[in-house]
Amino acid sequence: MNNLTESTEEDVIRSWHDRAQAYDNLIGRWPIFTSMADRLLECIFEEFNGHALDLAGGTGLVAERLLNKHPKASVTLVEPAAEMRALAARRLGDQVEIKDFTSDELDKLDAVFDAAFCSASFHLMNEKTTLPSVASVLRQGSVFSTNLWGHSFDEAVDLNQKVDWMQFLDEALAEFDQPPMHRPKNPAYSIKSAKELRKIGAVCGLHLFEKKIVTTEIETQFNIEFAAMNSNFLSQVETEIRTLVIDRALQLCRGVDIISSVELKFEKI
Ligand SMILES: C[S@@+](CC[C@H](N)C(=O)[O-])C[C@H]1O[C@@H](n2cnc3c(N)ncnc32)[C@H](O)[C@@H]1O
Repeated sequence: MNNLTESTEEDVIRSWHDRAQAYDNLIGRWPIFTSMADRLLECIFEEFNGHALDLAGGTGLVAERLLNKHPKASVTLVEPAAEMRALAARRLGDQVEIKDFTSDELDKLDAVFDAAFCSASFHLMNEKTTLPSVASVLRQGSVFSTNLWGHSFDEAVDLNQKVDWMQFLDEALAEFDQPPMHRPKNPAYSIKSAKELRKIGAVCGLHLFEKKIVTTEIETQFNIEFAAMNSNFLSQVETEIRTLVIDRALQLCRGVDIISSVELKFEKI
């Protein structure tokens, strides 16, 4: 695995289990997630009626958009976080098959797919095990369409324009007589590169044929809301005032950030 240990992968999945409802609320408020999902789906033709894989399907956003656009398709959603799966089942009912696997266990599905999608999640995965796993279930000529946040792709790392959103939390904390917040450590995932992905893909039969970097303007509040989904966020502050501090920081927050995402398409050869 990249620089992720096995227990860290478990931690990542548990963290998404814990914030599943907060995440579902977030994607309802911030259209960037829907836009990312819709752009992934652009690669399949209008009359698509095949079997699609929604890898790391979360609460079912991609599967839902796919079925709205292609009602004759069938979808298997793979998601290792239990609460995410529960919310996906609530959103989609029996329209999709929902499976509990990680990205490197897809061979256990015993299925072949005509398209595979993975939105807002590839940066959380180990590409060395995920790409062969995806390749093992894709029909020849089919496409794996994925995206990842630019902060985890070498060519996009510097594109993000950063307003220091933590200053607004510090201002809010000061109003509640609290010390400034702890600056979180950098996340554990590795920076991916097209060169490395091409190399791994070449070995397992996934040809990287398209790479697009998209930048989106977004209010700085987004960063606070994203960070606040995590139950460890502001854990140094008493629980009773944590929500008040976050609400106040959101009121104080000004500015617009630029967030980049990277869209990658692989063909099974
Ligand atoms: C930001 S959410 C994205 C969910 C969904 N694709 C969407 O667009 O709303 C990230 C998801 O990746 C899942 N995930 C994290 N690590 C994973 C892994 N190794 N294999 C499969 N899924 C994983 C998490 O459980 C979480 O549901």
